[in-house]
Amino acid sequence: MAWDWIESASVPDGELALYRQGDMFMIRANGLELMNGFGHQSETALGQMAVKIAQDREPHILIGGLGLGYTLAAAADALQGRGRITVAELSPQVIDWFDRFVGPTVLPQRPAGLVLVPGDIGAFIRRADVGPFDAIVLDVDNGPEALVAPDNARLYSADGLHAFAAKLAPGGVILLWSAFEAPDFVALAEQAGFIVTRATLAAVRRADLLHYAYVLKLAARRS
Ligand SMILES: C[S@@+](CC[C@H](N)C(=O)[O-])C[C@H]1O[C@@H](n2cnc3c(N)ncnc32)[C@H](O)[C@@H]1O
Repeated sequence: MAWDWIESASVPDGELALYRQGDMFMIRANGLELMNGFGHQSETALGQMAVKIAQDREPHILIGGLGLGYTLAAAADALQGRGRITVAELSPQVIDWFDRFVGPTVLPQRPAGLVLVPGDIGAFIRRADVGPFDAIVLDVDNGPEALVAPDNARLYSADGLHAFAAKLAPGGVILLWSAFEAPDFVALAEQAGFIVTRATLAAVRRADLLHYAYVLKLAARRS
């Protein structure tokens, strides 16, 4: 079955386009596929994992970015009406498409307290009025060593990681989705004072193709 084009939009970096195939959606950026709904197992597993390891009964979970909303939908499903979810998404167009086309399929029942915020998550996290979060979930690149946008490198620097950690509730964690192992990033994060563990997420249709979640906690400081 072929993808049906739904809508295109000019964005600062070029063009985004939304396509549909039955219940599935695909977003292309400048002609290259950003994501399609047929391969969302690991994005779903990431959202479930965030809820599982958040320690508060009513956790506040920050997700960036929105994409097709599978991580958001999985977290919302796992929360079963508890807690709150905030999503920071760089592209207002992606939020608009989620509101009009994708959301009604992927997340038909919007949870109360869901907030979709347009803009860079790195800027959002530095706002004085945000947080604390029990889990911060980042799926904005192909991994901390496989960036989609060069600007996102800031997010995975020691400064960037500490900006996220500053907005964690006690016991809170940062989860990073990655399509690849990222040993240099792990070394950087450990050097910056984080305890890093790696989990394997469900593969996308091929048993030999693994995706990962890096889980970061700030190590207790010795006084
Ligand atoms: C691979 S998609 C996320 C997929 C999502 N987990 C899902 O379940 O569909 C990556 C998203 O991150 C967004 N993004 C990229 N850089 C960002 C940033 N610095 N801040 C917020 N969102 C960003 C992109 O616009 C895109 O929507």
